[in-house]
Amino acid sequence: MGRDVIIACDFSSKMKTLGFLACFRHIKPFIKIGMELYYKEGPSIVTELKEKGYKIFLDLKLHDIPNTVHKAMCNLSQLGVDMINCHASGGIQMMQAAVAGIKEGAKSALPILIAVTQLTSTSEEMLKKELLIQSSLVDTVKHYAENALVAGINGVVCSPLEASIVKELGLLSVTPGIRFADANDDDQKRIATPELAKAYGSDYIVVGRPITNAANPVDAYNKCLEQFLDKDENVNKEIEQDQVCDADQENQAEDD
Ligand code: C5P
Repeated sequence: MGRDVIIACDFSSKMKTLGFLACFRHIKPFIKIGMELYYKEGPSIVTELKEKGYKIFLDLKLHDIPNTVHKAMCNLSQLGVDMINCHASGGIQMMQAAVAGIKEGAKSALPILIAVTQLTSTSEEMLKKELLIQSSLVDTVKHYAENALVAGINGVVCSPLEASIVKELGLLSVTPGIRFADANDDDQKRIATPELAKAYGSDYIVVGRPITNAANPVDAYNKCLEQFLDKDENVNKEIEQDQVCDADQENQAEDD
């Protein structure tokens, strides 16, 4: 899987999600299913969208004792998702348990396992005053990323502003907190435009409200692709989309 734009499908139901995805007609974007949708619809929403040909990042941010994370990851990776995550703040042993759970559960290809460093809604002030973490935000992101590397994790979730630190460690960087230059920040604190995320070396940008709340979500998605991907990556993406679309039509013909 190459660099890509992942749409955060933070919707309250399957109906709303399918309605939103229908705007894209024959395009099958890489999508993220998070807690809101998963807790409402359960695992069937993942299997159904996988069967329709979407690449899925299952963003449930596991954080528990190692044994529980091991068992939960084993179950989740049976869903055949492409990317999955846990919190780096659970520690190295917990992240190692996540790796083991994935290996045990995955039926074929292993999903990319990502560790969340600091949420993009966390500010330096909140880190110090509420969480009593006296190191700087950048230092904690770097340290958590180093722990993720030791645990055998593929990459980390961080703000685009920290992507270059993560890249130096040889890890993938998945970056939410994306906003167009003229947009509202919502609850995000450490934000960047798709262009800036690219310049900082982000591998995947996760974009929710700037696409889902846009007057024209397809235009907003295409704007993200144009700003984030290189020209040749965009061409490859179009070829990949055509192949997914052909496979979809063949499946449809078999069903009819
Ligand atoms: O709507 P918006 O673009 O802010 O959505 C960002 C998405 O990325 C949300 O689904 C949120 O849960 C997720 N996320 C985040 N910060 C992290 C990890 C995940 O915003 N560190």
